[in-house]
Amino acid sequence: MNYKAKMLRDGALKGKNIIVTGGGSGLGKAMTEYFLELGAQVAITSRNLEKLQKTAATLSEKTGGVCIPIQCDVREYEQVEAMKDKTLKAFGTIDVLLNNAAGNFISPTERLSANAFDTIIDIVLKGSKNCTLAIGKHWIDTNYKNTVVLNIVTTYAWTGSAYVVPSATAKAGVLAMTRSLAVEWAKYGMRFNAIAPGPFPTKGAWDRLLPGDLKEKIDLKKQVPLERFGEHQELANLAAYLVSDFSSYVNGEVITIDGGEWLKGAGQFNLLEQIPEAMWDQLEAFIRAKKEG
Ligand code: HXC
Ligand code: NAP
Repeated sequence: MNYKAKMLRDGALKGKNIIVTGGGSGLGKAMTEYFLELGAQVAITSRNLEKLQKTAATLSEKTGGVCIPIQCDVREYEQVEAMKDKTLKAFGTIDVLLNNAAGNFISPTERLSANAFDTIIDIVLKGSKNCTLAIGKHWIDTNYKNTVVLNIVTTYAWTGSAYVVPSATAKAGVLAMTRSLAVEWAKYGMRFNAIAPGPFPTKGAWDRLLPGDLKEKIDLKKQVPLERFGEHQELANLAAYLVSDFSSYVNGEVITIDGGEWLKGAGQFNLLEQIPEAMWDQLEAFIRAKKEG
């Protein structure tokens, strides 16, 4: 099975101008690369301009597409407005906003300062809100339709999770915003959807979620029924579909791509997989004996 196979036909995103926040690294970079291959023009934004410039140059050369770097801290509304204006100056229009930028690290919540908690909320929730508000209002003001906001959340947006409480709180807010605006702003020709990825190894996430030798001690694959991590192309395929016109009737949805990870943690009797195959005859006999008695 080739998990790296590319899904959409050539030119599927031709004519789409896309903003990817946090597009200089990790999953944002992987999605940007595929969007460019499919013919979109992409503005990648984050705080680190040097990193963005390097990524934009690499991806433009690799794909032959148009990728521009724009520095922007999504926590600052004025910077988001300026980023929007620069994108419009370069591309003329914006068709898609992909809210992918995030901050996160593991910590017992009682060890967090108020500022540490705020920092994550500000990047994830306020940042997604800032970009959505600035670009959404622009679309409304200019009567520009057939637009898409795609938000990257996580499965703990609805389950919650210990030790990443600010991130879980913020992602839950982003998911609520996705579903709320899918209804309220549909009349302006906008669609809102979200992707909830399971574990897709990236340097940014692994350095902060599995620091030091935790990488060797904790095998996240064991939590995944499919017993493997996601390939970046698998996520890029789903994102490309959701920003394309092929998904025109998908609105207000969150699509999980996690190999079944969150459900494995949720099912009450899932732990019975630890029972050896040979023991099931005996267990069945016990159960049948009770019925007969
Ligand atoms: C406790 C910490 C801390 C830690 C920082 N702080 N790291 N507190 N434990 N490990 C505190 C600081 O002391 C400070 O509080 C406050 O947090 C802000 O820290 P700064 O370093 O000043 O913030 P900043 O430079 O803005 O950096 C933000 C960051 C950093 C989130 C801390 O890690 C970052 O830039 N991250 C961006 C990329 C990222 O996080 N990628 C992973 C996404 S993974 P005080 O009180 O001292 O001022 C993801 C996956 C989800 O989301 C699901 C996976 C399955
Ligand atoms: P990553 O490479 O660390 O990506 C995070 C990006 O956000 C970086 O490019 C970073 O760039 C940018 N960013 C951080 N703070 C910012 C700010 N204030 N303003 C603008 N940009 C900012 O990690 P990743 O794994 O690819 O994560 C991408 C997305 O996937 C996130 O939303 C994450 O929550 C989600 N996710 C990942 C996984 C996974 O397994 N990897 C699982 C579930 C969900 P700068 O540092 O240059 O600003």
